[in-house]
Amino acid sequence: MRKPIIAGNWKMNKTPEEAAVLVKDLIPLVADAKCDVVVCPPAVCLSAVKSVVEGTNVRLGAQNVHFAEKGAFTGELSCDMLKAVGCEYVIIGHSERRQFFGETDKSVNKRTVAAVKAGLIPIICVGEMKDEREDGYTDAIVAYQTLMALTGLTPDEIKNVVVAYEPVWAIGTGLTATDEQANETIGVIRKAIEGRYGKDVADAVRIQYGGSMKGSNVKGLMSQPEIDGGLIGGASLKAADFAQVVNY
Ligand code: 13P
Repeated sequence: MRKPIIAGNWKMNKTPEEAAVLVKDLIPLVADAKCDVVVCPPAVCLSAVKSVVEGTNVRLGAQNVHFAEKGAFTGELSCDMLKAVGCEYVIIGHSERRQFFGETDKSVNKRTVAAVKAGLIPIICVGEMKDEREDGYTDAIVAYQTLMALTGLTPDEIKNVVVAYEPVWAIGTGLTATDEQANETIGVIRKAIEGRYGKDVADAVRIQYGGSMKGSNVKGLMSQPEIDGGLIGGASLKAADFAQVVNY
């Protein structure tokens, strides 16, 4: 059985001080969570959040990582830097990075491999645009993005990664994939992993849904057999809202 994992992607929100307040409020509300709970604040907040979540069941993740160990990569952060401030997880290939910052399937793969080799758990984001769904390319796109991201990892390493299926048209729009749509596409992702790496690997990988997931729709989504959790944007920015999702 896969343990569900609910992660908050705070995106470019919160100062370190605000971040510390948010997790302080969150910790008692999610102390009895049955799923893994992760928060992914902006990089400048990681240290502040680490000191608050230490010793609790709330785990820390970053929103991106570079593949090189160090060097002339202005604005980037290495795996070792993230681990040094307490990160265990890192989001890779979010559609906002793909759309606005030139992230490609190749760079997502390089970041993923570097993260895994360094002992970080990647949360690899995949998902189709609205027109791609309308034109019938969803399955091909999510399968390709997923398999590309995983290239170069061993089957055992793949068992430990997290994939987040985030249809781009559902992010921050209030539109959610229906429970059935999300379940079906996550099933496609799992089948693609099975086709390349076998059923035991595919059965182990946790695949989240992301895109306007919140307290009012979490139950339906989480009751679907293929959906192993959520990657939450807007509803992760208030402790009570995020707790409602975590405690579905
Ligand atoms: P929203 O929950 O705000 O739609 O964002 C989803 C997301 O992009 C999480 O990574």
